[in-house]
Amino acid sequence: MKIAVLPGDGIGTEIVAEAVKVLHALELPFEMETALVGGAAYEAHGHPLPDATLQLAKDADAVLFGAVGDWKYDTLDRPLRPEQAILGLRKNLGLFANFRPAICYPELVGASSLKPEIISGLDILIIRELTGDIYFGQPRGRRTATDGHFPGSEEAFDTMRYSHPEIERIAHVAFQAARKRNKKVTSVDKANVLETFQFWKDVVTEVGQQYPDVTLDHMYVDNAAMQLVKAPKKFDVVVTGNMFGDILSDEASMLTGSIGMLPSASLNTKNQGLYEPSHGSAPDIAGQGIANPLATILSAAMMLRFSLNQPEAASRIETAVQSVLASGLRTVDIWSEGTTKVGTRQMGDAVVAAITKTITKG
Ligand code: IPM
Ligand code: MG
Repeated sequence: MKIAVLPGDGIGTEIVAEAVKVLHALELPFEMETALVGGAAYEAHGHPLPDATLQLAKDADAVLFGAVGDWKYDTLDRPLRPEQAILGLRKNLGLFANFRPAICYPELVGASSLKPEIISGLDILIIRELTGDIYFGQPRGRRTATDGHFPGSEEAFDTMRYSHPEIERIAHVAFQAARKRNKKVTSVDKANVLETFQFWKDVVTEVGQQYPDVTLDHMYVDNAAMQLVKAPKKFDVVVTGNMFGDILSDEASMLTGSIGMLPSASLNTKNQGLYEPSHGSAPDIAGQGIANPLATILSAAMMLRFSLNQPEAASRIETAVQSVLASGLRTVDIWSEGTTKVGTRQMGDAVVAAITKTITKG
């Protein structure tokens, strides 16, 4: 089992170190190799995704990814910015299916900004298409406008597009995931305005006919944004395009108390995957040892389940995380009165200790 470890920038290095510690505690035959990515790779090699890093990721069964980005790179040419590393990995590895579960742990009900009754027991899964849409559509760029409201002025443009097979395959992923859950798919679109998302809706409907046991409904993205904070428990699986999924998954993360709790998995057709926390590099708190490593640790659990075929080891991590939360340990993002505030490393150590206990107990 080969794992490429790409910590990246900001808190990425701190949180990935904890996840690696947790993986070691499982005492499984992993081969882990670390490489630079993002701003760190740009500093060292002049590119956010050096060839050697990409090759390492391609050759691995799974990639454990931290986070990339820092405001100090905002003035670089776009191809050299840290974010291009994650976009490049998604594109080059064909990681089209992004799973972003939003689960509200009972212990963290109070950490959410929403009322407990709205979010307690929440367990939804956002499936975001990750290699198409306006993120990757060509052409894009700047030019002189020849029409529109201000012909002759400078303008910028991007291309939103989805092909039939791209929508079809992500729809299958969503329906199959729903079959293992509560058998409900909500497809989020903007069919009332956008051609691309009318097509999206049509294709998802077509695919849905092959899953008569799964309920399919359609929702406009603006309404979905509203329903997510109004009645999030009505959702089971949400499937949507790259850009809407980017936005809605951040929103959904806040239902769970903290974006510091949310893992994610991005898979290709061979089940090779990239696993990363849903949050970013948080340069404002980097180096302080206070970041929450649980999203990354839970991402490692998803990696064991989806790409490395080790479901028991995955459960062991998830159980350990729950027991650590139950014992009252909290990083600052999920801390509340009456719980114990700990740093990144202490949180990782606590998860390791909980795992070791289950191992020695057999
Ligand atoms: C995410 C991030 C990325 C995205 C950025 C860092 C390119 O926000 O994974 O959600 O927009 O996809
Ligand atoms: Mg995002």
